[in-house]
Amino acid sequence: MPVKLLVTGGAGFIGSAFIRLVIREFRQYQVLNLDKLTYAGNLENLAAVQDSPRYRFVRGDITELDFVLDLIGQEKPDAIVHFAAESHVDRSILSPEPVVRTNVFGTYALLEAARRHGVGRFLHVSTDEVYGSLEEPFEADENYPLRPSSPYSASKAGSDLLALSYFTTFKLPVFVTRASNNYGPYQFPEKLIPLMICNALEDKPLPIYGDGMQVRDWLFVDDHCRALVALLEKGRPGEIYNVGGSLALPNREVVRRILAITGKPETLMVSVKDRPGHDRRYAIRSEKTMQETGWAPCVDFSEGLRLTVRWYQEHGDWVRRVRSGEYQRYYELNYAGR
Ligand code: NAD
Ligand code: DAU
Repeated sequence: MPVKLLVTGGAGFIGSAFIRLVIREFRQYQVLNLDKLTYAGNLENLAAVQDSPRYRFVRGDITELDFVLDLIGQEKPDAIVHFAAESHVDRSILSPEPVVRTNVFGTYALLEAARRHGVGRFLHVSTDEVYGSLEEPFEADENYPLRPSSPYSASKAGSDLLALSYFTTFKLPVFVTRASNNYGPYQFPEKLIPLMICNALEDKPLPIYGDGMQVRDWLFVDDHCRALVALLEKGRPGEIYNVGGSLALPNREVVRRILAITGKPETLMVSVKDRPGHDRRYAIRSEKTMQETGWAPCVDFSEGLRLTVRWYQEHGDWVRRVRSGEYQRYYELNYAGR
């Protein structure tokens, strides 16, 4: 029997990579993609799977409780993989409301529908940002205290706790994953790596927040998605699983490497006003996920970054389309005052 997955946010960066992977390599799964198509959702990301008989798309908003209840009641998915979110920290600082609504209330609507309709598995995709900034040499395992700093990370922490409460209280088989910073093709060019690649390719300034010595742990998006597939099969209900790339680098070093690959000068880097509440360092331990699933990240950062730069070089039309309209307004709002 095929396993029916309801994937939320499947038109975004990681959700679309997950769907492409599952349709390409894991034939036991059928996918129904539920996405509102916000500025970050793009059906072009799913062109490779749109004709597959194992894939369907429904446009909808996870914050509309009645719609979500009806959809899950009618479709009766075996499992939900929940990516849909407002995912950008800077936008959450400029405008927290949609972030709280989608990330907290939207997650509630899905959990409630899953509970009422007896969905057998609920994978809540979350982030290492919930642990907040860690001093050297600390690394967060899954029991580390939550200290989110931004409206985005606080909303994700809230949704994590809500999801886990549905396991404790209602025995809904929920589990939570917390991944580090993803990068790769199809990432919206508001996040560090695609923004710097796109600006460098056009000889535009590369805005480094503050001193640029903030540290992030980089994970190639397909490595993240493979961990999620493994956890979908092997993850234990009620548990949390960290998914890291095991490669910590300061932002300046990441940007330097992008400039080296694109053959552009370091003088393109400009220091701009820092992000308010900017987390200095993220670091997680992923041993639990590795031990329970056999997963390990396998894309080396240099190789993944080269591949990502090449993808943006070869997909100028995609970049032009996603950067038209709303993106211009956001860019002006976020960067003009810095
Ligand atoms: P993204 O912004 O690229 O995509 C989000 C998707 O959700 C979009 O397709 C958007 O249209 C959809 N969406 C937003 N609001 C919705 C709503 N109300 N109803 C239905 N659909 C809605 O995000 P991403 O980077 O792919 O992140 C996906 C998930 O992974 C998020 O939950 C994020 O918190 C988590 N995560 C991201 C990273 C990262 O580095 N990008 C790392 C760890 C965890
Ligand atoms: O850690 C996982 C998280 O990683 C995810 O949960 C989030 O969805 C994702 O957006 C990401 O959050 P970050 O804030 O770490 O990612 P971002 O790409 O926005 O920024 C990475 C670092 O680069 C951060 O220290 C801020 C800095 N930065 C970012 C931008 C966009 C700059 O210096 N200049 C910029 O223009």
